[in-house]
Order: sequence, then C-alpha cells, then structure tokens
Amino acid sequence: MNIKDIIYERRTIRKFTDRKVSDSDLNYLIDLARMAPSGSNMQPLKYAIVNQEDNVQKVFKLTKWAGYLKGKGSPDETERPTAFIIVLNDEEIRKEGYELDAGASIQNILLGATEKGIGTAWLGAIDRDEIRNILEIPMRFRIISAIALGYANYKTVIEEEKGDIKYYLDNDDVLHIPKRKNSDIIVLTK
Ligand SMILES: Cc1cc2nc3c(=O)[nH]c(=O)nc-3n(C[C@H](O)[C@H](O)[C@H](O)COP(=O)(O)O)c2cc1C
Repeated sequence: MNIKDIIYERRTIRKFTDRKVSDSDLNYLIDLARMAPSGSNMQPLKYAIVNQEDNVQKVFKLTKWAGYLKGKGSPDETERPTAFIIVLNDEEIRKEGYELDAGASIQNILLGATEKGIGTAWLGAIDRDEIRNILEIPMRFRIISAIALGYANYKTVIEEEKGDIKYYLDNDDVLHIPKRKNSDIIVLTK
C-alpha cells in the first residue's frame, strides 16, 4: 500500500477478533513512534505496552467507546482489543509542549498498524488515574492517550460530510464516518 492507501484505509476500529497482536509487531509500532517529529527533538514520549490478557481486560474497563453511538459502538465481551499501547509523557524530560509530539507519534503508530493489517482505536476517554493504579505507572509519566489494537471485525466506510459530522451505523452495522471535503477546509489560497 502506498501512503495514500494507508491513510484512507486507517479507520478507528471498535470491534476485534480474538487474534493477538505479536510482540514483534508491537515493537515495530514503537519503532515507528520514535521516528516521529519532536519539538526541539526532546523526545519526551514513552510507551507502556499492555498485552497480558488480564491487564488488557482491566484497561478495557477503563475506556469509553463511540460516544455518538450510545452504547452500540462498544466492543462486546468477544470483540475487545487484544492489546493497548499507553502513550506517556516523561515529565522529567519535558513538562509542557509535548501534545503535538504525541499526535505525530500516535499517527505513526496508527498508520504502521494499518500497513500491517492491525486495527486501532485512539482513545482519549480513559480513566487515567485508574490506569495508572492498575499498571503501576510512576507519577513522572503523564498518561496522554491509549491506543487499542487488534484485528478488525468491523466494516467502515468514509463519506462526504453533509451537515453532520457524527459517525453512524447503518442497518447492516456498517459504520459511516463523514469527512469534511477539501473545499470546506481550505480557508484560503493566495
Ligand atoms: C484525540 C482523540 C481521542 C479519541 N478518543 C476516542 C475515544 O475515547 N473513544 C472512541 O471510541 N474513539 C475515540 N477517538 C476516535 C474518533 O472518534 C475517530 O477518530 C473519529 O470518529 C473519526 O473516525 P476515523 O478515525 O475512523 O477517521 C479519538 C480520536 C482522537 C483523535
């Protein structure tokens, strides 16, 4: 796949099969994350890999899915992700100004996963305090986001946004994701 195919192929995946993501693939994704641009090249981001079944289940319970779908978009017990990458900011390296680094590194992970056929969901609606407790993450690391990973058991389609940005499920349980068109987002060309 070329970069356009990978970008168009990547969708937030919210239902997964029980196939595990391999350790080598998880390490490959961290390798892509560390290649992301970083302000002043300070590279404050660190990562926690969660792939032991009991820990994955504990973290899952601290995540929220598909706010617009009012319950229908969450994975049921058989559809949960099989791993998480928790993205951390090491505050001993940098206390402020890490947010954009995080966006760049997370996107590298999402696109690299797509290339490997691995589905992902970037999750911001997470209980950071409880995730810290159960994984025993030291206070020097700020918890930024979680990335859920697994193999998709889910169909999605992107479509042109026509007045409503909310994603929705159709009668066949296909998730439609409206995207604003170029002419709506190019503010000026001069
Ligand atoms: C910063 C950020 C936080 C997000 N948090 C959540 C979340 O907590 N739960 C969820 O189901 N999706 C979450 N998403 C996924 C978005 O809902 C998704 O990216 C959006 O609907 C567009 O769909 P797409 O990723 O398939 O293009 C998040 C995305 C971003 C960028």
